[in-house]
Amino acid sequence: MSEKELESALHDLATALSGSDKFVRAVLSGRRRNMQPEHERLDLRPVQLKSGLAIQVSYSDGRQMTSKNFSLEAFPFMEVAQSGYANILVETEGESLSLRISKKGIPHFSKSKNAAVREVSHDRNKQRLLDASDPFLREVGIADAKGNIKPSKMDKYKQVEEFLRLLIPTLNDAISAGHVHQPSTSHPLRVVDLGCGHAYLTFAAHQYLKSAGIPVEVIGIHIRPASRDRNNAIAKSLGIEKSISFLAEEISATSVNSADVAIALHACDTATDDAIAWALNRDVPLTLFAPCCHHDIQSQMKISPEPWSLVTRYGIMRERIGDLITDALRIQLMKLRGYRVEAIEFIGGEHTPRNLMIRAVKTGAEPESGEVERYQSMISEWGVTPVLAAKLNR
Ligand SMILES: C[S@@+](CC[C@H](N)C(=O)[O-])C[C@H]1O[C@@H](n2cnc3c(N)ncnc32)[C@H](O)[C@@H]1O
Repeated sequence: MSEKELESALHDLATALSGSDKFVRAVLSGRRRNMQPEHERLDLRPVQLKSGLAIQVSYSDGRQMTSKNFSLEAFPFMEVAQSGYANILVETEGESLSLRISKKGIPHFSKSKNAAVREVSHDRNKQRLLDASDPFLREVGIADAKGNIKPSKMDKYKQVEEFLRLLIPTLNDAISAGHVHQPSTSHPLRVVDLGCGHAYLTFAAHQYLKSAGIPVEVIGIHIRPASRDRNNAIAKSLGIEKSISFLAEEISATSVNSADVAIALHACDTATDDAIAWALNRDVPLTLFAPCCHHDIQSQMKISPEPWSLVTRYGIMRERIGDLITDALRIQLMKLRGYRVEAIEFIGGEHTPRNLMIRAVKTGAEPESGEVERYQSMISEWGVTPVLAAKLNR
């Protein structure tokens, strides 16, 4: 890429950011060789203030996030973009623009389709992701005949929406970074929902990604044949059976052998471990798991390394620490297999107490030194062996 092409790429990024009413967010991160931008990472998003539309710039000093608002004209994008960041991502509704400058100083500029949604409210009042009138909501039983969300299904509806909200930006990032291939009609994005149950999330992911112009092939796996038949019949009645299908199989023995994205929402107990193992054993590049109840580690916790008996002597607290240890060990096993993993709250505790999301991208990065030892000392001090370890091929 020549100097002129770099300039034109920066110009495209600047236009996407300030010259468009479709700007969704931008991220400037990483450091170019021998350069030192003022902040490690900048996150930019549009925000509607009383005084007009502005760009909110957020950065962290390592402890606290700080945000500043700039009018569209006042934000010095070109200056900031050339201050030494190695990666600049600008997302508009429909397109992601990504500029990466290699260690050798070689710029790579790419554009790809995305499913990003613009949100400009200052207080981040969330706009709905799913079209309330989409007949799938009625067919799966979330909405009534008039298309209103049934009160008894409101929590599930919110869980599904929040799950998608966490999927979309990571999916866009993973496609821009080349971890997930660019979906096309001949090579659609394959999403596998493990332990899909009534398939609320499975259908929602299919409908949302399709409405965002992303070609998809979605597969739901569930243990019971009756659910498979019900879900396949719904797909047929919606006329989408070519791109969504259901199988009645055990996760650990499923005939499905690959995915670009593996998801699982509240797969019971060790079914979450089956789901994680399935994804890790097949190098699935992007995974989002919201675990359910856990019993595996809790039932093994016969000893507490002191002074943790102060916690484990009380049943309710013992249960909670058992959950935390289970998820911490799952995350560590994922990290040791080259995944970049985040543990995040995916929905307020009022909608479900099972509100942790383990979101991971396979980057292939070697774990940092000491991480294997940390895992070993955790399991030996607590005298536990996570069931996931035995399910992994390597
Ligand atoms: C709590 S439900 C959640 C269903 C759905 N993901 C949702 O959020 O609405 C968990 C589902 O996983 C299914 N399941 C549990 N263990 C499984 C396994 N080993 N293989 C396949 N499905 C399993 C159960 O039958 C159940 O429907």
